[in-house]
Amino acid sequence: MAAPPMTRGKFITLEGIDGAGKSTHLEHLSALVEARGRRALLTREPGATSFGKGLREVVLHQQTSALAEALVMFADRAAHVEDEIEPALAAGTWVICDRFSDSTYAYQCGGRGLARDIVVQLERIAHPGLQPDATFLFDIDPATAHERQRGRSQAADGFESRGLDYFTRVRDAYLERQREHPGRIRIVDASGDLQAVRARLQRAFEDAFA
Ligand code: TYD
Repeated sequence: MAAPPMTRGKFITLEGIDGAGKSTHLEHLSALVEARGRRALLTREPGATSFGKGLREVVLHQQTSALAEALVMFADRAAHVEDEIEPALAAGTWVICDRFSDSTYAYQCGGRGLARDIVVQLERIAHPGLQPDATFLFDIDPATAHERQRGRSQAADGFESRGLDYFTRVRDAYLERQREHPGRIRIVDASGDLQAVRARLQRAFEDAFA
């Protein structure tokens, strides 16, 4: 008898401004998926594939236009989707990705003023038919996020030296995206201690995959 068809995995993305603390919760999310008897793949953007690692070095350490940044992010994303995300989902693995296309809307459009229509088109080219099943948006006031980042080595990254106004625009763009996609994007209040945020994430996860 033929084996039953493999159920496609779910695609989960984590979003939020720098310093929101989302990456700290990846392992916990993975444990929640595994507790349901499913395999989980933890990955991130930019720079998950060997091709993308080089792009990450360039885009995080060199200044360029918002359009050039978006194009590099989508080159990275196209390779990531084709080489890792789609094969994993097809094999039934749940993919948990630290940042995806909502980051480009938030950072390049919200933060730097790139026209959103450009990102709409890039999404159609790079991942037609693929959108996250659920996105957890770690929301925090940019001043608190900056405070959290102090002393972290990544704080030297070009992206992270752009100041409070920039991060306020990025946050606002994320919140606007959430209003446009309320079924997919769930806000996780990222203020307060780790345990409190973890409990909120867990509730949002159970709610998304009830
Ligand atoms: P990273 O060190 O991975 O930080 P974090 O842990 O906050 O994800 O840096 C990734 C940076 O790249 C972050 O500042 C957001 C930015 N970025 C964009 O500007 N556009 C994008 O499409 C993506 C995926 C990331």
